[in-house]
Amino acid sequence: MSMHERLITPSETPEDLAVTTTLRPQRLGDYIGQPQLKENLETSIAAARRREEALDHVLLYGPPGLGKTTLAHIIANEMDAEIVTSSGPALERAGDLVGLLTNLKPGAVFFIDEIHRLPRVVEEYLYSAMEDYSVDFMIDKGAFAKSIKLPVARFTLVGATTRAGKLTAPLRERFGLFYHLDFYPVPELVKIINRSAGILNVPIEPEGAEEIGRRSRGTPRIANRLLRRVRDYADVKADGRITREIADQALCSLGVDRIGLDELDRKLLRTIIDFYQGGPVGVEALAATLNEESDTLVDMVEPFLLKIGFLSRTPSGRKATPLAYQHFGLIPGQQTMGNGVGCLFDA
Ligand code: ADE
Repeated sequence: MSMHERLITPSETPEDLAVTTTLRPQRLGDYIGQPQLKENLETSIAAARRREEALDHVLLYGPPGLGKTTLAHIIANEMDAEIVTSSGPALERAGDLVGLLTNLKPGAVFFIDEIHRLPRVVEEYLYSAMEDYSVDFMIDKGAFAKSIKLPVARFTLVGATTRAGKLTAPLRERFGLFYHLDFYPVPELVKIINRSAGILNVPIEPEGAEEIGRRSRGTPRIANRLLRRVRDYADVKADGRITREIADQALCSLGVDRIGLDELDRKLLRTIIDFYQGGPVGVEALAATLNEESDTLVDMVEPFLLKIGFLSRTPSGRKATPLAYQHFGLIPGQQTMGNGVGCLFDA
């Protein structure tokens, strides 16, 4: 199964994009969760506004689907600023970046998603833009080549990345504000699901929201996606109302287990357990066995498994923990079969 077919992939699908515009909170006051981050950001925004200055450059880092793009838009809204968005892989040539930078209005928020994927030669143009609000751009070639200094308005760079450690030191050092996003606890996911259900006009019982929240891998993007799938199921197989039973049946039939693990999560854990006797196994060997990119495993699959203590990282490789064995009804050192989905109700 590829990541694109993966129901609980934390990366954004085209369908997500269409609905995030309606579900995405616009103001910090509407943003649920990440209380420490919210408080610190609120203070920094208030201080910048009081001084009538652009906010310091912000680096947002954490697993996909937790709200980095949403926060970039909120920062722009709270600063009454326009937002220009791009991404590391989209900025292939220095000219692409310089064009965007030199057209920014004073105070603008410039959002670069997946900033760790900026080509190195492009990244270097960001340094002087962030620090001195100017770029030295080479025009012409050969004997006629000359460098011209172009001014850049006072702007705020908001960079997003899955891991702060992936950034080069010179880029990382130029950010003034660092915010780490962590997985959301279930009660916050439940609040997000209820808020989204309200916007989408979906009738949902508290137990239905709780069931979806418990199975969303701590990730709002997944919570909103599962809500839409469960709504489809409720519309077709029942009276449209999301109860706990309907949520469980829908999620079971989608292969999302009691704690939100999907087929790829289970495959990764079962490969370590069955194929590598519980580990340790190097991530490259694991990726090859699963026929996945190692970056996909590291950025999208492992963080949640580490968070819930099913996986451990050791100097010699990844290991499945006793909790992971328990989830599959296994005892370390003893092998049995089972998919571990453990549905509450029969679908
Ligand atoms: N939708 C997605 N993430 C959200 C959040 N953190 N708060 C409110 N609504 C959201």
